[in-house]
Amino acid sequence: GKSIKIGLLGSGTVGSGVIRVLEMNRPQITERVGTPIEIKTVLVRDVKKPRPQLGDVRLTDKIEDILDDPEIDVVVELMGGIHPAREYMLRAMEAGKSVVTANKDVVAQFGKDMFAMAEKKDVDFRFEASVGGGIPIITPLKQCLTANRITEILGIVNGTTNYMLTKMTECGADYDTVLKEAQAKGYAEANPSADVDGLDAARKAAILASLAFNTRVQLEDVSVEGITKITPDDIEYAKDLGYVIKLLAVGKDSDENGVDVRVHPVFLPKTHPLASVNGVFNAIFVRGNAIGEAMFYGQGAGSLPTASAVVSDIIDVARDIINRTFGHVRCTCYEKKKLCPLDA
Ligand code: NAP
Ligand code: HSE
Repeated sequence: GKSIKIGLLGSGTVGSGVIRVLEMNRPQITERVGTPIEIKTVLVRDVKKPRPQLGDVRLTDKIEDILDDPEIDVVVELMGGIHPAREYMLRAMEAGKSVVTANKDVVAQFGKDMFAMAEKKDVDFRFEASVGGGIPIITPLKQCLTANRITEILGIVNGTTNYMLTKMTECGADYDTVLKEAQAKGYAEANPSADVDGLDAARKAAILASLAFNTRVQLEDVSVEGITKITPDDIEYAKDLGYVIKLLAVGKDSDENGVDVRVHPVFLPKTHPLASVNGVFNAIFVRGNAIGEAMFYGQGAGSLPTASAVVSDIIDVARDIINRTFGHVRCTCYEKKKLCPLDA
């Protein structure tokens, strides 16, 4: 039968994680989709760089090897930045390929163009990994919470700065040293000033607020302050008073003030549910007029957690392609598996 073929743009922290997740969970993914998913070609900047972890996938530095390949069904963009990622994604959809991305820069600034192209060409455009790393939050906002009027969304949405603030608070770590650690772990953006200046969190806040409040919040609508001005004295002062400093994304929608979206450091009382979200973990709190309060928690950055969200999007798109091609997805979810005996 038909296998679903992927063109992967980028094989750094997240791209290599995607290859690994597809490999380590191959049998169950094939079962869930009803057919295998194969990485056919991987675009990188430097094809000569040794990449032993990638096995025998075909590398290229020419985008046409992916965009002009009629066998490739899905393009997965994990290069980062606006240019040329935005153009490549638009060209992929123009060529009839669905697109999955973790790129919050493009979604926050050019989401409208992406959705318009996806609609025009009747293909999928998915971006679950663009906010909160491995945490399911885009799909819940797009689907599971749409019955609500959402009035508030509040979150720790940047893993790098939360990792830094946690280490500075708990171990008295020095700012520059702990930033280097976050970079070495693959959490930080290619230009880490996007993390520490709050821009990465602002992009995510714009995406979340647009979905939650069913409007278009652009990056320039978000007021932003990062963590660069926080001193060891601020951290000690907060601790003495029973607070912790966290970088929060805050979105509110009220009849009186309309939509207000901000990113800035706050003093949170230690008893606040977001105060104990530490290290690379992120959490997003949502208030809706039917569900009440809901909270989403998990690893906000890193190779495998982020790949978890990307691969789930790939699986969804693959199921959609199979569904369109054959009119159904073979569902094995009700087949009985070996159960642990209750009286063992
Ligand atoms: P990364 O480690 O820097 O990897 C980027 C990859 O893209 C590399 O393989 C690089 O090739 C390739 N690349 C970059 N520009 C290229 C170009 N112009 N042409 C061809 N190849 C190019 O980045 P990452 O951390 O995996 O992040 C990828 C995306 O995921 C970004 O949008 C990021 O914001 C997002 N994201 C990251 C995380 C995380 O935890 N890291 C979490 C959520 C979302 P070479 O290997 O040859 O240099
Ligand atoms: N640099 C980002 C962070 C990656 O630290 O949260 C995940 O989007």
